[in-house]
Amino acid sequence: MSTQELLSIAHQAMQNAYVPYSHHAVGAALLGESGRVYLGCNVENAAYSPSCCAERIAFYKAVSEGERRFRAIAVVGGINGRTEHPCPPCGVCRQVMREFCDPEHFRIILGCKDEETYLEYTLAQLLPESFGPQNLL
Ligand code: THU
Repeated sequence: MSTQELLSIAHQAMQNAYVPYSHHAVGAALLGESGRVYLGCNVENAAYSPSCCAERIAFYKAVSEGERRFRAIAVVGGINGRTEHPCPPCGVCRQVMREFCDPEHFRIILGCKDEETYLEYTLAQLLPESFGPQNLL
């Protein structure tokens, strides 16, 4: 699975975003170690706090289907689906990634403009000095 393919799937996932309040649509494509890709989009709610980010929906879909280790996630998003700027994952989503991913190797790919233009980080770069499952052993 290439970076461009993963970004293209994230764009597809964004089409289902339910964003009547913020109008900020986000799509995520999460690549599991099995090779399966899980799609997520943000789903908002009139009561606001039950809203959920695209990344977390992708993770929870995957984990609920038995996948627990991951290689990469591609994320695209923007107001009214305009994706010219990168859409970095929120702090809560970074912590969810920390639960299931190796911080040094998990790739976070932030799409902008088109499939050839993106930023790439490891989880360790976006969540340094993190707290994870090992801290509870
Ligand atoms: N959002 C995501 O889905 N992922 C991100 O990486 C950042 C923010 C959503 C939450 C909310 O539905 C909207 O974008 C505006 O915050």
